[in-house]
Amino acid sequence: MTKPKILIARAVFMEVIARLEQHFDVESNPLDEVWSQAQLIARLQGKQGAFTTGGDRIDASVLAACPELKICANMAVGYNNFDLAAMTQAGVLATNAPAVLTETTADFGFALLMATARRITESEHYLRAGKWNKWSFDMFAGADIHGSTLGVLGMGRIGQGIARRGALGFGMNVIYHNRTRLDAALEAECKARYVSKDELLKTADHLVLVLPYSAASHHTIGAAELALMKPTATLVNIARGGIVDDVALAAALAGKRIAAAGLDVFEGEPAVHPDLLALSNVVLTPHIASATRPTRLAMANLAADNLLAFFSGQQPLTPLNSEVLAAR
Ligand code: GLV
Repeated sequence: MTKPKILIARAVFMEVIARLEQHFDVESNPLDEVWSQAQLIARLQGKQGAFTTGGDRIDASVLAACPELKICANMAVGYNNFDLAAMTQAGVLATNAPAVLTETTADFGFALLMATARRITESEHYLRAGKWNKWSFDMFAGADIHGSTLGVLGMGRIGQGIARRGALGFGMNVIYHNRTRLDAALEAECKARYVSKDELLKTADHLVLVLPYSAASHHTIGAAELALMKPTATLVNIARGGIVDDVALAAALAGKRIAAAGLDVFEGEPAVHPDLLALSNVVLTPHIASATRPTRLAMANLAADNLLAFFSGQQPLTPLNSEVLAAR
């Protein structure tokens, strides 16, 4: 029996490629090139499945050019690289990689929050530049984490993980806003209080963004929202570029309208807006919130499991458009 043909669009763990090679005729990307859309389309020719990452855009034009494609398995929890409506219309299953990265990503969100509030990278740069020649009473004085108010915007699994860390680990007063309010038991478990978006912005000492990106969440945080925040507040974005208006944020940071920001994601990444690069009160990391080896391996294996289940006629583990399966 001929094996289904799949494309692995970016370099990934050899052990995961080896697993897939047992069941599929695999074309991979060992040099980890970032393909243009035309290159992606060319490589998808004749493929029934694709193992994608958050940077591989699957939209109507890709689908129209690749009529044999049946499934795209994303090695990411976010799936704004998929035009889900177009995929459903084309009968192409989409899967993502949720849950396996929750705690790792929440750890990172908290690390970024602490680095930002306590000015860790800024002070390290100062030390490395040889500028540290005396103690002084207010050198790199930052904001407290313990006992402060943590705001979480987007209270899915990762947001809940951050809320738990704040409330249980650091004695923070946790408030959150989400499209839908959590049930009372989950709110009690996370020790989090539901507030309006405006109250969240006005009250949080530290605001962490963990909401999915879509057209509706584009520039959720712009100049008007930043103006509502406390001048002493910190903002952390581990969600997606585009949720924050980076130009407005850079202006707010430069004008000290908020104290500091920690950003793992950027509009148009991997490019980072030069206005952000020029500032010292922002901690910048290259989209690494889920990047521990065990977690990245679990994400890759989940994407592989989805491909394996789909082609063996079983129920994929984490489908995003199950209606495609129903119509099969
Ligand atoms: C990372 O950003 C992911 O969506 O998994």
